Amino acid sequence: MDVNQPILGGIALRGSGSAIPSQQLTNGQLGLRVDTSDEWIRSRTGIASRRVLGPGETLTSLSKNACSRALEMADWDPESIDLILMATSTPDDLFGSAPKVQSLIGAKNAVAFDLTAACSGFIFSLVTASQFLRNGSMKRALVIGADQLSSWVDWDDRRTCVLFGDGAGAIALEKTSKNEDGLIGFQLKSDGTRGDYLNLNQANNYIPLVTDNSYQEGRFSPIQMNGQEVYKFAVREVPGILQQLLRETSTDSDNIDWLLLHQANQRILDAVADRLKIPHSKVLSNLENYGNTSAATIPLMLDEAVRNGQIKSGNLIASSGFGAGLSWGAVLIKWQGPLGFNK
Ligand code: COA
Repeated sequence: MDVNQPILGGIALRGSGSAIPSQQLTNGQLGLRVDTSDEWIRSRTGIASRRVLGPGETLTSLSKNACSRALEMADWDPESIDLILMATSTPDDLFGSAPKVQSLIGAKNAVAFDLTAACSGFIFSLVTASQFLRNGSMKRALVIGADQLSSWVDWDDRRTCVLFGDGAGAIALEKTSKNEDGLIGFQLKSDGTRGDYLNLNQANNYIPLVTDNSYQEGRFSPIQMNGQEVYKFAVREVPGILQQLLRETSTDSDNIDWLLLHQANQRILDAVADRLKIPHSKVLSNLENYGNTSAATIPLMLDEAVRNGQIKSGNLIASSGFGAGLSWGAVLIKWQGPLGFNK
């Protein structure tokens, strides 16, 4: 990948929004289902509770609400949006959920499609959307990260079910001049040879059709994970890709205002910060309340930090997503949302 190709224009992050399901599931409640404890989950992961989509709520409706809030913050008319990119591995419709979100927010001029890259999906989508804005073919985009892993974990497998939750977040991106570019740099990587460490594979279920023919029924096996290998992958590759990004953009880690990592595990967040010598006070974390919401964690955290006043306009943010694929990516971004937006 040539990340040094000429850049025609820039992008600005102008708004953010998020939405979470109303149902909360605490560690204590999970202990009623599997042999676990609040103490085990908190000490190994930092997670205390998660949100789970219930009747009357869908991932599409959460995504719609996240987009509406991002549009409100950016003060944009939905009809001014050219692109809606929805990072998700768990769409309501396997053909894609982004067009439904497009219709619900009234963004009738936007092309809308899904992008799947598991927990790296939001970073991959942010970089993908930025290409259309930087090359001048589009002016405004909404990038969504949304996942409903509660539908795909085995709720009787204590090794995985305690980790995940549901949620959605969105950001509003705008084409800007090269001088004002808010995407200082990026790196994206995949390694399919290690894909078996974390997957959500189609179930191997062939059903007789006619004569000698059979077909594979559309059904997926629950999430499979080798926790220790995924942990080792994260604490090795995430600092590595961030160090590479800082080197390539000639950025001193002291100048980073916030480290915004995929919210998988507090121990991973702390280990990455330590490797990069970034103080823990600069590490954004909300996984205590939501667990790992896959593609949603980064925009959900970003939105929370913007609205509670932690992230301010002009702040420099180093962000990294990582997960199944295996896949991992990092961006160095500047937040350029409205001054004083705090609600
Ligand atoms: N409650 C209680 N005990 C549990 C448990 C739970 N929820 N889950 C596992 N255990 C038990 C295991 O059965 C094992 O018991 P045993 O020694 O009797 O066999 C013991 O705890 C240790 O299991 P282990 O898998 O070695 O724990 P760990 O220290 O590696 O922690 C993770 C497990 C999942 C927390 C850790 O590996 C991790 O965070 N990995 C990264 C996962 C991740 O972030 N995935 C998403 C990436 S996008």
